[in-house]
Amino acid sequence: MSTLIDIRELSVRIDLPGGPAYPVRDVSLSVAPGETLGLVGESGCGKTLTCLSVVGLLGRRVSIDGGDISFQGAPVDPNDPEDRRRRSRGMGIIFQNPMSCLNPVRTLGWQAAEAYQIRTGESRRIARARAVELLDLVGIPEPRRRAADYPHQVSGGQQQRAMIAMAIAGSPALLVADEPTTALDVTVEAQIVELLARLQREIGMGILFVTHDLGLVAEIADRVAVMYAGRVVELAPAADLFARPNHPYTRGLLDSLPYLDDEVERLTPIEGKVPPLHAMPPGCAFAPRCDRASDRCRAQPALTRQSREPGIRDRSVACHHTIDKTTEAA
Ligand SMILES: Nc1ncnc2c1ncn2[C@@H]1O[C@H](COP(=O)(O)OP(=O)(O)OP(=O)(O)O)[C@@H](O)[C@H]1O
Ligand code: SF4
Ligand SMILES: [Mg+2]
Repeated sequence: MSTLIDIRELSVRIDLPGGPAYPVRDVSLSVAPGETLGLVGESGCGKTLTCLSVVGLLGRRVSIDGGDISFQGAPVDPNDPEDRRRRSRGMGIIFQNPMSCLNPVRTLGWQAAEAYQIRTGESRRIARARAVELLDLVGIPEPRRRAADYPHQVSGGQQQRAMIAMAIAGSPALLVADEPTTALDVTVEAQIVELLARLQREIGMGILFVTHDLGLVAEIADRVAVMYAGRVVELAPAADLFARPNHPYTRGLLDSLPYLDDEVERLTPIEGKVPPLHAMPPGCAFAPRCDRASDRCRAQPALTRQSREPGIRDRSVACHHTIDKTTEAA
């Protein structure tokens, strides 16, 4: 299968007053055309910084510290302005916080038209008409009137939808969606998810979909990558991951989901917290919370392909004591 985006051993560095920290370490991921890759993990595990590295929008003091990213078969050069334009044309991003990307002094219509123009090269007149259609497509009522509104004049949910309109304007090959539906109620969430699925069918868009909502991931993702403390710890087809989690952290995430159909709600949160950036334990960062930890876990487990596991395709796990004993990392 061809890949749209290919991330190899990506590391991100933040320069903090107390010294550098590495919130993303050796992350390797790919998304194929028409595929949805779900990216999950607790708060602070590096999901947003991975997304921002892909689209080239890391902030001040934050930089790529190693690894390679290719987009549509060509390596990405973060310092090349032409490469930045190539990514703007081919990638759309939905940010976790709409106000961090909407321009407060431009109307919603202007911003959607601008995004459309950048991707398609069409005239401003066509882009303006298309902007109203896009606002309508993402479920903004009275789109012609709302197109003349500034971001602060509309609700958080409408800002989120306007940002989705900008992200999908001109049909980018890759959509990076960082918690795209958090500010929306469940009905609108369902509409947005359906809209993204339709775009995917129609134009073969690939989606990198970040969410805390494992139920949503189970519904929409083809494959799922689980991140913990800056690293991918398990990567598998969605159905396999949910049926047979093989990393203790993945199992912990699934066990902490409520099963409302049970008489007694089973809900077992993972004890403890993600270690802070400056206090990462040596070896496996999950060890302080892991009931399978042993002396071996003081060495970092590599993300290892599980070719011996019968019936499961393309699963990788980083653990010295995987749940399925036949697949332990070397
Ligand atoms: N600009 C920054 N300066 C300092 N620390 C940062 C910065 N950006 C991110 N971090 C830290 O890097 C780590 C990873 O952040 P990131 O935003 O990628 O997490 P996340 O997985 O997206 O979390 P969430 O689910 O809460 O959105 C966190 O510890 C975060 O506090
Ligand atoms: S490597 Fe060890 S500590 Fe880490 S998840 Fe596996 S068993 Fe637990
Ligand atoms: Mg985030």
